[in-house]
Amino acid sequence: MSTPHVVVVMGVAGTGKTTIGPLLADALGVPYAEGDDFHPPANIAKMSAGTPLDDNDRWPWLDAIGQWAHGRAGLGGVVSSSALKRVYRDRLRAEAPGAVFLHLTGDRSLIEQRMADRKGHFMPAALLDSQFSTLQPLQEDEAGVGVDVSGTPEEITERAVAALRRLAN
Ligand SMILES: Nc1ncnc2c1ncn2[C@@H]1O[C@H](COP(=O)(O)OP(=O)(O)OP(=O)(O)O)[C@@H](O)[C@H]1O
Ligand SMILES: [Mg+2]
Repeated sequence: MSTPHVVVVMGVAGTGKTTIGPLLADALGVPYAEGDDFHPPANIAKMSAGTPLDDNDRWPWLDAIGQWAHGRAGLGGVVSSSALKRVYRDRLRAEAPGAVFLHLTGDRSLIEQRMADRKGHFMPAALLDSQFSTLQPLQEDEAGVGVDVSGTPEEITERAVAALRRLAN
């Protein structure tokens, strides 16, 4: 049997990381961790005050996610992290070299619609613009797959499982 993947679910805000992550973990029979839960207290204070995080704030957060992923090496796991920039993914891989990325991709209009329907969250359109302009898709040398987020969460999860299965260990 092949070694279970440690999967980082990445993508712009509203693309479905928190929705698909736990479904994927269930389908693979591995634990799920929510990337947002790894922020150190200083980041939480900053975000609560409405101050955007800068990259210096992100490094300890990415390290913590990477350490969780490393702890699941050989066992399998799913963790969410938008990981929009290549340097963020490099940072995650520095801790968890075997991690593979599942990039949830979708039309801006679809994601915008889902964001608009989301309860208890407010995200101005400008923030989504900045997410798309920050996004650096997976490069050739990065282990991972892209999956389109049209359809139901169950359909997306099936697509993700199939795509991950095709990824060589
Ligand atoms: N396949 C889907 N069909 C319909 N609605 C969906 C689907 N996937 C996600 N959603 C809804 O879209 C919204 C955004 O999804 P979700 O919160 O999972 O995204 P996210 O990538 O975790 O966002 P963030 O980066 O802000 O944490 C939620 O309201 C969620 O219920
Ligand atoms: Mg989320």
